[in-house]
Amino acid sequence: MQKVRKAVIPTAGLGTRFLPITKAVPKSMLPIVDTPTVDYIVDEAVASGITDIIIITSHNTDVIERHFAENLPLEKRLLTDGKTELCEILKKITSRAKITFIKQDTLNGLAGALLCAEELLAGEPFALLLGDEIIYTEAGQKPCIRRLCEAYEKTGKTVLSTMRVAESEISKYGNIGIKADGEIKEVCALVEKPAAKDRLSDYAVIGRYVLDGGIFKEIRKLTMHGSEIILTDAFHVLAERGEIVASEFEGIRYDVGDKAGYVQANVEYALRDKTLGDKMKRYIAALAKTL
Ligand code: G1P
Repeated sequence: MQKVRKAVIPTAGLGTRFLPITKAVPKSMLPIVDTPTVDYIVDEAVASGITDIIIITSHNTDVIERHFAENLPLEKRLLTDGKTELCEILKKITSRAKITFIKQDTLNGLAGALLCAEELLAGEPFALLLGDEIIYTEAGQKPCIRRLCEAYEKTGKTVLSTMRVAESEISKYGNIGIKADGEIKEVCALVEKPAAKDRLSDYAVIGRYVLDGGIFKEIRKLTMHGSEIILTDAFHVLAERGEIVASEFEGIRYDVGDKAGYVQANVEYALRDKTLGDKMKRYIAALAKTL
């Protein structure tokens, strides 16, 4: 099976849940401590063996592009000031993968975003990482996308990452019907954001996938739901043909597209930070006593 080298990160979207900041700053550039969200996602892809990344943007694209471009005067200044460690961090941002940007002019859903990347993908299998969730893994745990790439390379099927959620939460997610459970689950159906009573199982789809070129043929056959082309509808067709599997991930997932999830990610990453951690622990412990 062909090795997965490419990844797509859709970041277009108006970010209405984060207005007013997203009026001028794309949602994917909101920081978790000191690093933009999209950077954590690129890190996961690179740690999973991805070498080519396509970032789909819409408005305020230049800020994202500038983040991934070299800033030689700044690097020179940091070196002159003896801040070599910081300079290395900046260099790594630009050198760790080949990053290409593509603009999504019409905001017509996730499947619509993917169509923008079709030509650059040139028929190769690819990972898809949604821009508003990040997955923290500890040493010894496999990055989520790596697990999916391995499952794809083993089965040749489209692979979705999944997690169990409470009945009351299922209406926020794509939901899978399972034919055979196990480490690699055989998926027989999918439905987007069902009411709890209509759910197919307790398994929700999270924003990590490995797909191949075959998805585009299915996307083209879909009809729009309002202004959107729903990727889950294309997955359902593949699932009915037995061409989709799913696997659970290791680590902690943060829904940074949600305000509470975003703040939670900031608190927990700050607690893990080697320079901030102790200070934050003392602060949170003292604060907790007052609550
Ligand atoms: C998207 C997908 C949905 C998936 C979710 C994961 O929904 O359409 O199937 O479960 O991401 O976060 P969104 O959250 O963009 O509405």
